[in-house]
Amino acid sequence: MYTFDSPNVTGFHRIDGTLACDGVPLPEIAAAVGTPLYVYSAATIASRYQAVDAAFAAHPHAIHYALKANSTLAIARLLRSLGSNADANSGGEIEVALRAGFTPPQIVFTGVGKTIAELEQAIALGVSTINAESDGELDRIDAIGRARGTRVRVALRVNPDIDARSHQHISTGLKTTKFGIALDEVRSIARKAAAHHGLELVGLHSHVGSQITDLTPLTRAAEALVTLSRELRDDGITIEHLDLGGGLGISYDGTPAPTASDYAAALLPAAKHSGLAIILEPGRSIVGPAAVLVSSVVDVKERPGGMLFVILDAGMTELMRPMLYNAFHRIEPVVASSAPEIVADVVGPLCETSDTLGRDRRFARPRVGDLFAVLDAGAYGAVMASNYNRRTMPPEVMVEGGRHTVIRRRQTIDDLVALEA
Ligand SMILES: Cc1ncc(COP(=O)(O)O)c(C=O)c1O
Repeated sequence: MYTFDSPNVTGFHRIDGTLACDGVPLPEIAAAVGTPLYVYSAATIASRYQAVDAAFAAHPHAIHYALKANSTLAIARLLRSLGSNADANSGGEIEVALRAGFTPPQIVFTGVGKTIAELEQAIALGVSTINAESDGELDRIDAIGRARGTRVRVALRVNPDIDARSHQHISTGLKTTKFGIALDEVRSIARKAAAHHGLELVGLHSHVGSQITDLTPLTRAAEALVTLSRELRDDGITIEHLDLGGGLGISYDGTPAPTASDYAAALLPAAKHSGLAIILEPGRSIVGPAAVLVSSVVDVKERPGGMLFVILDAGMTELMRPMLYNAFHRIEPVVASSAPEIVADVVGPLCETSDTLGRDRRFARPRVGDLFAVLDAGAYGAVMASNYNRRTMPPEVMVEGGRHTVIRRRQTIDDLVALEA
């Protein structure tokens, strides 16, 4: 029912006009748990993971789900149970990966500013590979490796100077960004790394950005890694794998987005040409469409002149993407109504003008207490929630097999002040 290759079909559909998650009406969940809240479809996460895995079946590959997209334990556990490995971006994400049941050899550690403490933690645990970001970081890893009498498995994160043509805040492949090692320095740094006794150079890595919908930049980045791997071989350095990062975009507006098959078609020719195993680090494409943020209308405000605001009980503290990246999310009334249509800005309750979830949206005029769903909120949603204005973080609910389970309870004010003197 939920196939990745039909991007408009997710686990969220209407039953007699009411939005439901895998058959469970959202008003039922909202009544039990309160709003605002995130609702996830386990079936969607599973089918999207499996679609990527199946699309790459013809080539040796490992999927390391990017925890940064959403690392709520139940979601990480679900992905582990499906066979995924993990990509962690901080010491905290490594800890969460372990608590979700991933073993250290199932974890790759990426991150543009790893501290010595994080490197020591990762090396002591024996994570599968550290994706190293700079010459200096390689020296630090080498020193820790030698002190421990071990060779640390590293891949070099390459900055291929490729424009992902996504939003500038999530495009990471240009040499003007802070990420990775410049293309023309990789060869000399690799030769140096290969001579270090605390390092074992096992791979090349690149991640040129997120929410990539024209896959050409991903193909070009993969080709750049293949070329580099051959140059390294000419230098007597043989590696095991190419880590092609994440980045596959999803449809936020309902228009078609690349499918898992398109993704494989973009990367597999280069992968085959390389003769090396590949690692993929998808995040958004697995969990993005698998959740909605459910919120209640707290006010409908009409300005003289006709401008309308629908004020929700969710805003930038629950979902930052619209404010951070000017990102578009579809916003729909949970229960269809025959009230006359209005055009309104959908805003949150925070004391910031930027606290706007959507502008000029058209829907039936809502009443206070009505529910709205912000679609495709599963990636970079709950993980970016904050306590600004002393708001407590929303609960998260997973629907599986026709039942809903709270996988993260609502934060309380006691939780919030617990760290304070
Ligand atoms: C190194 C790395 N890998 C993987 C990802 C996941 O990307 P996405 O969620 O676009 O698949 C990111 C996110 O930006 C990243 O920085």
